[in-house]
Amino acid sequence: MASSKVKDAKSIFVANVKGGVGKSTLSIMLARALAEKIPPQNITVIDTDLQRTATEFLTNSNPEINVEFLPITPAFENTNISLVQQFIKQNEFRPGHVVIVDTPAGSSQRLWNLVAEGYCVLIPTTLSNADLYPTENFIRSMDKVKARYGKSYPHLIVCPNKIPFGQKDFSLMAERLKNHDVVIGPALRDLASVRHFYNGKVENWENKSNTNAQSDFKQFGSFIEKYVLDGELDKIYSKKDGAKNVIPFEKANN
Ligand SMILES: Nc1ncnc2c1ncn2[C@@H]1O[C@H](COP(=O)(O)OP(=O)(O)OP(=O)(O)O)[C@@H](O)[C@H]1O
Ligand SMILES: [Mg+2]
Repeated sequence: MASSKVKDAKSIFVANVKGGVGKSTLSIMLARALAEKIPPQNITVIDTDLQRTATEFLTNSNPEINVEFLPITPAFENTNISLVQQFIKQNEFRPGHVVIVDTPAGSSQRLWNLVAEGYCVLIPTTLSNADLYPTENFIRSMDKVKARYGKSYPHLIVCPNKIPFGQKDFSLMAERLKNHDVVIGPALRDLASVRHFYNGKVENWENKSNTNAQSDFKQFGSFIEKYVLDGELDKIYSKKDGAKNVIPFEKANN
């Protein structure tokens, strides 16, 4: 079985030019979901956000997951971008290891160049135009960086976030993204328990009856395990033709 042999190391960036789309939440929840599937000591989360959101939460909830706090702000940018870059490079020699990088909002070319060194980029966005327009621009910039270096990596995965309950149709989003080199991952619903999880303590989150959130993030973790860690995306991309590369997860599964 594929899952029993040691897999190549993977670096996963969570990024979008737009703020507040769920990058930190997704980084935290993905790390937690993967910790159920692979040894947690093989997971490192690099928190580059000065607000330390991921660091605060994970050091309390999952101390066995490695967390590195390397804030990327205009003042620290150069040094810490180089440190993240070094970490990613070193990680390539650690089979079975996964690095998840939570990045800050904003558009800095140096940050995009760094993100472009990853294996894949998770791009959370809501379905509202206020988020989709900047998200499309971000995807365009990533495509440009990839084209400039003639690379097929990183794979770009758009993650529909804060999706209203019952929404099953992502054809509008797929239509808008069809000329880009992206796949659409499983949707995460708009969940009150997630909206409030920063406010409280980790214990509150863990004790709460947040079964909807648990099931969405678990499904998301399984998607990442199959498509990213087990390399299913590489197969999709190796036989891709033109604009047929938008694969909403629901469809890819059938
Ligand atoms: N699926 C969801 N359902 C409901 N609320 C959510 C969901 N995902 C994220 N949120 C909420 O949206 C807000 C922004 O999320 P988060 O901080 O993860 O975004 P971000 O992209 O990291 O923001 P920033 O750009 O400031 O770093 C938070 O209050 C968070 O709890
Ligand atoms: Mg954040």
